[in-house]
Amino acid sequence: MRSQDKAEDNAVRRQADSAGVDLARLPAHIAIIMDGNGRWAKARGRPRLMGHREGYRNLRKVLADCSDLGIRYLTVYAFSAENWRRPPDEVEGLMKLLERAARDELRMMLQNNVRMRLAGRIDELSPALRRVLLDTVATTEGNTGIVFTLAVNYGGRAEIVDAVRDLVAAGFEPNDITEELVSAHLYNPDQPEPDLMIRTAGEVRWSNFLLWQGAYCELVVSDVPWPEFGRRQLFEAVATFQHRTRKFGAVVE
Ligand code: IPE
Ligand code: IPE
Ligand code: MG
Repeated sequence: MRSQDKAEDNAVRRQADSAGVDLARLPAHIAIIMDGNGRWAKARGRPRLMGHREGYRNLRKVLADCSDLGIRYLTVYAFSAENWRRPPDEVEGLMKLLERAARDELRMMLQNNVRMRLAGRIDELSPALRRVLLDTVATTEGNTGIVFTLAVNYGGRAEIVDAVRDLVAAGFEPNDITEELVSAHLYNPDQPEPDLMIRTAGEVRWSNFLLWQGAYCELVVSDVPWPEFGRRQLFEAVATFQHRTRKFGAVVE
């Protein structure tokens, strides 16, 4: 991963170019639903948590590749507001993994100019996890490279509810409410909306991810489970995105 000029020549950009990616038309913001960790582990006769550990290892690589490629924003779905419904030991294992990862990756993020941000109801997490996540966000705040947003205890509906609560608390009247105003009260209103949303492991659904911001993003589903989603699949997804015609409701000839 390089920390300086993202547009400089590097191995990832050269490989992407050979794989058919147009480096001049990259999506500014990629969102990923990292799915299939459990199935990946099960297929190997291993516990689900093993799949999550491999998923984390893979995220480090994909973040580095996106940074080298020149993607400006990467948002990943790490734990949904509905994932609390999973068995307690899996939930606990995931929380521990998140805490360890945030602690262990701080140095990597500082070295590589990565700015970490959060999306989700962070106040509902344990104090220890909340502290390490918020510390990482604060410590990387001045970094100017890729913006890496970790969606934890995130739900698209919850995000919209939280925005509406803010608006009501601020005393807005019904006629004041516009799409721009709602957008301005989402978790990270300064970020551009995702252009490309990738989901791994073959499932074709949103699962409550970025419902508002994803209204017009291009969805690309890869059959590969998240622990195996590598550089080749990333390039394929970007190239697929580049072959789509985005219309935003208009007529595009
Ligand atoms: C995605 O993998 C990771 C999280 C939801 C935390 P899954 O755990 O959903 O994997 P599958 O879908 O059961 O294979
Ligand atoms: C979405 O995956 C959440 C994350 C990847 C963190 P799920 O595995 O929870 O989604 P469903 O339950 O298959 O819709
Ligand atoms: Mg799943």
